[in-house]
Amino acid sequence: MIDLLARRLLFVTGKGGVGKTTVAAALGLLASENGLRTLVCEVEPKGDLSFAFECGPTPFQGRQVARNLVAMSMDTEASLREYLHHVARVPVVGRIGPVARAFDFVATAAPGIREILTIGKLCYEVREDHYDLVVVDAAATGHVVGQLAAPTGINELVRVGVVRSQTDWMLEILRDTRQTGVVLVTTPEEMPVSEAVDLAGRLATETPVHLACVIANRVLPELFGRAEEQVFDVLADSYGTDWLAQRLKAAPAEVASVLGAARLAVTVRRDGSAHLERLREEIGEGAPLLYLPYLFSRAHGMRAIRQVAQSLKEEL
Ligand SMILES: Nc1ncnc2c1ncn2[C@@H]1O[C@H](COP(=O)(O)OP(=O)(O)OP(=O)(O)O)[C@@H](O)[C@H]1O
Ligand SMILES: [Mg+2]
Repeated sequence: MIDLLARRLLFVTGKGGVGKTTVAAALGLLASENGLRTLVCEVEPKGDLSFAFECGPTPFQGRQVARNLVAMSMDTEASLREYLHHVARVPVVGRIGPVARAFDFVATAAPGIREILTIGKLCYEVREDHYDLVVVDAAATGHVVGQLAAPTGINELVRVGVVRSQTDWMLEILRDTRQTGVVLVTTPEEMPVSEAVDLAGRLATETPVHLACVIANRVLPELFGRAEEQVFDVLADSYGTDWLAQRLKAAPAEVASVLGAARLAVTVRRDGSAHLERLREEIGEGAPLLYLPYLFSRAHGMRAIRQVAQSLKEEL
């Protein structure tokens, strides 16, 4: 039993297309239905969260999408403005133009600034206790390490002064395994599993955030067991498509495709199992592994998110 929902800040990441947005939205929905004040934030403002929740745009200021559930998209410039206004108490009203221009200049010159403003905003929501849980639809494997490592990098760069004290509190939140964790999503395929294993290693060595769990998404159900497989083998090998076609009054090609589809289902499932086996071995005791089934329904948007949330609930 892993108490994912007892944490304050969860980063959902994984290879592109594995289901990060789907899982982040489902986790958020589940948390909100458990009575937690929940924020789901997409770090790359692609509009995927608004598609998942079937709501309008999800601005930086947040949009209420259900009871206890707010969705937002990251905007580093707005994050800087909020920081200057609320935290540093710099009166920026009316001087947004120059600040924005200066920001672009600084962000280009100082690597890590955009990342700090992203992570900073998320940690700020936790520190201010605006929400019980912040779920982040984070960047894909390639970029997430840089984001999570940014506060450490800046901290090491600036050993004294205001900046240091600004990153210290972030690091405190990020390092705390009771509060913060990464939810690493993958699928039962070769590349997503390889990237997941690689990322699990890099999280441990290069970032302050620990791995809370690994989720294998789009896992195929076992459509055929050994016994059913034997039935199909006998049908195909002992009786043959022509004999079956005659008995069924069907075209031999149709019978062949039914038998072929059954073989394919077995092969795909077996391949997937091999990849999952490798995932289990390589992740080892490092983190719990959860499974989410492949949804065959044509559902998308909120209906799909609800189904995934239900499966997650059964796994937690
Ligand atoms: N368990 C599932 N069963 C079937 N389809 C799924 C499942 N999970 C996700 N999908 C589908 O897979 C596609 C990719 O999912 P999603 O957008 O969540 O991935 P992502 O990792 O956020 O992608 P990106 O890297 O582009 O942001 C979507 O069409 C989604 O509906
Ligand atoms: Mg996405």
